[in-house]
Amino acid sequence: MEVPEQEFGFKLNGKPVVVSAPTGERLSEALRERLASRDVKVGCDAGDCGACTVLVNGSPVCACLMQVHQASGRDLETLSGLIASEPLAQLLAKSFLKHGAAQCGICTPGMLVSAVALMRSKRELNSVEVEDSLGGVLCRCTGYRKIIDAVLDAAGTGQASATLDWSGSVGDPIPRLDGKGKVEGTEQFSDDVGPPEAFLVRIIRSPYPRARFKFGDLKEFVEAREGIEAVLTSADIQGCNNFGVIPGYSEQPVFAASESRFRGEAVAAVVGTRAAVNAFGDDEFPIKWDALPFVDEMDAAVAENAHRIHEDRQGNILCSGFVRAGDVEEGLAGAYATVEGQFETAFVEHAYIEPEAGFAEIAEGRLEVHVGTQTPVMDLDSLESILDLDRKNIRIVPTGVGGGFGSKLDISVQPYLALAALKTGKPVRLAYSRTESMQSTTKRHPAEISMRIGADRDGRIRGLHFRGRYNTGAYSSWGPTVITRVPIHASGPYSVPNYLAEACGVHTNCPPSGAFRGFGVPQAAIAQESLFDELAAKLGLDALAFRLLNALDNGVSTVCGQVFRKGVGIKQCLASIQKHWDTAKDEAVSFNRRAETSGSSLRRGAGLGAGWYGCGNTALPNPSTIRAGVLPNGTVVLHQGAVDIGQGANTVIPQIFAHALGVPVACLRLVGADTDVTPDAGKTSASRQTYVSGNAARLAGEALRAEILRRCNASRDAEIRMRRGAVEVADGTRSHSIDLGRMKPDPDGYVFRVAETYNPPTKPLDANGQGAPYAQYGYAAQLALVEVDTALGTAKAIRIVAAHDVGKAINPLLIEGQVQGGIAQGLGMALMEEFIPGRTENLHDYLIPTIGDVPPVETIIVEEPDEHGPYGAKGLGEHALIPTAPAILNAISNACGVRMTRVPVTPSRLLEAIKAR
Ligand code: FES
Repeated sequence: MEVPEQEFGFKLNGKPVVVSAPTGERLSEALRERLASRDVKVGCDAGDCGACTVLVNGSPVCACLMQVHQASGRDLETLSGLIASEPLAQLLAKSFLKHGAAQCGICTPGMLVSAVALMRSKRELNSVEVEDSLGGVLCRCTGYRKIIDAVLDAAGTGQASATLDWSGSVGDPIPRLDGKGKVEGTEQFSDDVGPPEAFLVRIIRSPYPRARFKFGDLKEFVEAREGIEAVLTSADIQGCNNFGVIPGYSEQPVFAASESRFRGEAVAAVVGTRAAVNAFGDDEFPIKWDALPFVDEMDAAVAENAHRIHEDRQGNILCSGFVRAGDVEEGLAGAYATVEGQFETAFVEHAYIEPEAGFAEIAEGRLEVHVGTQTPVMDLDSLESILDLDRKNIRIVPTGVGGGFGSKLDISVQPYLALAALKTGKPVRLAYSRTESMQSTTKRHPAEISMRIGADRDGRIRGLHFRGRYNTGAYSSWGPTVITRVPIHASGPYSVPNYLAEACGVHTNCPPSGAFRGFGVPQAAIAQESLFDELAAKLGLDALAFRLLNALDNGVSTVCGQVFRKGVGIKQCLASIQKHWDTAKDEAVSFNRRAETSGSSLRRGAGLGAGWYGCGNTALPNPSTIRAGVLPNGTVVLHQGAVDIGQGANTVIPQIFAHALGVPVACLRLVGADTDVTPDAGKTSASRQTYVSGNAARLAGEALRAEILRRCNASRDAEIRMRRGAVEVADGTRSHSIDLGRMKPDPDGYVFRVAETYNPPTKPLDANGQGAPYAQYGYAAQLALVEVDTALGTAKAIRIVAAHDVGKAINPLLIEGQVQGGIAQGLGMALMEEFIPGRTENLHDYLIPTIGDVPPVETIIVEEPDEHGPYGAKGLGEHALIPTAPAILNAISNACGVRMTRVPVTPSRLLEAIKAR
């Protein structure tokens, strides 16, 4: 029922405003939709994430928890107002930029206004005070440490500045080039771009894990409600109602037609005015549900009597994959010592702070969809198929992405927005609620893993047998990719002469599992790295020495038979944490001795984890194209379509391009991803953008340089300087000037123009999984010092040291950010994160690490140049997370003698295990 509006007056950023809104409307809604304060972000509407934090009479308040009438007569401040008027906010914003404290930037307004409130009250700060004051705001990207550093820096020096004194060459730790909008509140995310008057789309979802359903009178539903324009169902799909991301696995319906296969599946959508769409209750929508038996566990799903979730998938098996090298049975039989174990991991939710959202309209007769996405061209492919619309008539315009981590590789809001815009001919918006986002989008696959490893007496591994079953949920999503990738990586970055790894995906009536930082590898690493510790202990070897002994090296074959001539950096990663390992072990022993003496229940332990990750698609073509041009006024325009989801593509790729061209990065104007104006740079996934799109940028920079030098017959070492309307070339004692104004521009206005493509040289796998699945791997080793309260079962990370081989650090500042953010997610996976459909569908029941959970992280950058990477660079995004959970589990074992084989290691599970011991 629509609630009548009333007028409420308050001050907003120093100016008196009067807003007309229904009593009870959330202040966040009134600020964003009635007062255009889109710098106030919404992440949960429940006070859990703090993204909507504003200052009310100077105090930080979640605007989603305050009703608009409660603001009457008060002073409200948001980030954009603070930036416009308060030097303290400007100082903090610069410090955030300088420290890389904003990655995707969706949490940044909430963080910054909280920091302003803190620093208004106190200028001498320590990290605990910062943690306490910013503790109500969640960040999923940064791991918080750089946020703490930024606030302390601003408080300590009072003059933090994001210096512009850099060229931005490869290796320069420059602040992110797209950072200003993030720290000043002007970055537009997916729900910030649509006008307030646009129609709203509301999805009707299955409340059951499996159900048949029938619609009632939809026409009557529309006609009876003023402001409701249409109801969309599968009958409105002109093209194919199914979508997917892997050819041959496109079975997920846009709208389930008669039976839903998981709780939260879309069955219909209602389109209308904001007020009308928000006014009706779920039970008013005409649909009759008939709940059916369902399977949510893999054992039940593969049982003989289980219903088939998809008719053509016998035994509910999605697919399987394996890699075989040598003879694993012979290897294990001849081993001096063997260990084995069973491991279990949970669904993990991506929990980006920005729920899926977007805006669509018909512009000049074409469909335009503005959306937060990791892969605009794949979105376009999907819409072309679903809508049966010529792709020339579709444009995807990526907005700022408030975190992705893999899940925004799949379509979510896109088809509903497109259908609604086409049906009504009007602008439409859709933003998932936090619960919708958690119910309906992809998760990390829960895994059940058994593993057996054997080694010689001297510690050399003789054989490793891995079996993994991955819960892929109701639909395929990236399940086949995970199942292919896992057997290649389950050995870890080690030499294993006799190897068999088998993985399969199992369908259940759960939300689809998909891509999540690591594509199944973190689950396998938990088993393998845990058992490495057990095996080392059994052999009486130090855990680090054991890993070093078995680590891969240049010229040593991987389990797929691939031999790299250079760039295998795992030994260097392990060696670089040696002294930290020795210190941490000693520290734990001394701590525990004191604790025993004093009768304390606290124990500390040190643990290691290592990992590797093949960058890019597995044994498949994987090209990126980068285009650039020079305008007559001397501006170099870089069309880079690699979506920046916070990881830094908008900075790293320009750095590579500018370096190759030989100009400062400040000479560039960046044209970001947009299917109309940027060529396809592929997906932002699988740690591929720095490597693959980076190489395309390098080639484009080199090609443009060659064009310019050719024009004035200059030598290849000549220096290029971009000037207003000219290019000056200094070639030893000669100098040239190209008058750009005298050159004839092409139809796009460019006087020079290049486009280059790079595709990694991979080879398909044979029947035994032998081949060259990736042209490069990145390597990592991490050390965790963990404190366990043996009386409570709690485990807390005290310190983490992370060594990462990135080949060549294009931007060390951004590398540190990726490492710290990945570690925070690995820590969450190890200790707290467990998505349970129907139970943890919000951010107070589903826990992610807060600012107080992530310990100080020391990042060690290792540079073993890769043969193929741009200037030797390797990808990093996934690698940062893989070693963290095993390092923490090994540290827990070291602290209290309990080997935890199920994550997350919640206090109740750990306490039970301690008691059982
Ligand atoms: Fe904090 Fe992305 S930067 S959520």
